[in-house]
Amino acid sequence: MIFYPLSVLMLAGINEILIISSAEHLPLIRETIEKIGPIGVTFHFTVQSEPRGIAEALIIAEPFLAGEPSALILGDNLFFGHGLSHILKTASENTDGATVFVYPVQNPSRYGVLDVDEEGVVRDIIEKPQQFVSNLAVTGLYFFDGTAAQHAKTLTPSHRGELEITDLNKIYLSENRLSFYNFGRGFAWLDAGTSESLLDAANFVATIERRQGIKISAPEEIAFDSHWIDEAQFLSLPGLSYNNEYGDYLRGLVRHKNGN
Ligand code: G1P
Repeated sequence: MIFYPLSVLMLAGINEILIISSAEHLPLIRETIEKIGPIGVTFHFTVQSEPRGIAEALIIAEPFLAGEPSALILGDNLFFGHGLSHILKTASENTDGATVFVYPVQNPSRYGVLDVDEEGVVRDIIEKPQQFVSNLAVTGLYFFDGTAAQHAKTLTPSHRGELEITDLNKIYLSENRLSFYNFGRGFAWLDAGTSESLLDAANFVATIERRQGIKISAPEEIAFDSHWIDEAQFLSLPGLSYNNEYGDYLRGLVRHKNGN
């Protein structure tokens, strides 16, 4: 699962990444990532000792961010659609304020929701509204300017005991510095936070990959396409010698590129 959000950051052109997880899960995540081998991305790993909310990630990341703009993505979010890389790179150019990405869903009360007026101006952003506000769920991908950690430190825990990412975005909204991009119905956004949604995501990935013969998330491929590694470096990655379908896919990329 971690490869999906990781790929999104890489598609945004980001090659310095801090992974934050619980003390229990971080070692396994680290091991999984390190198995990819050198792909021109620097990884850092930090523990979040208690589940104190998504916005706490920005406080934990403060020394890593050093006042620079950043992108934050949740580890269970999957994005897929044509032109994703371009959309993300455009969003990352906005270094003043925050950008959220919304997506129409059938069950908005499970998410943060954006309230937008007829002119496309954001009126409000509400976490898990009980009353219908709009069907625009705020996805688990955010771009922030260099002030995010500072703002996050002013937050107080919500009724569920978390520093809410929605509250952080509300600060940007109150400063008139919250932008949004609507992925719209032609895109796919899936989260895998429940067993049902995990199954949906797995079925979606399997269907697309079987049909198109592509991988939605192969970090080795993105690194190679982004010219972070050259062909020789790509060929020497551990994945290239896997005796399985993933290895076949990676080896096929080079054959394809060289026209044989
Ligand atoms: C979190 C955010 C919510 C966002 C969602 C996206 O919800 O609080 O605003 O819409 O991620 O996956 P949580 O997973 O904490 O319920």
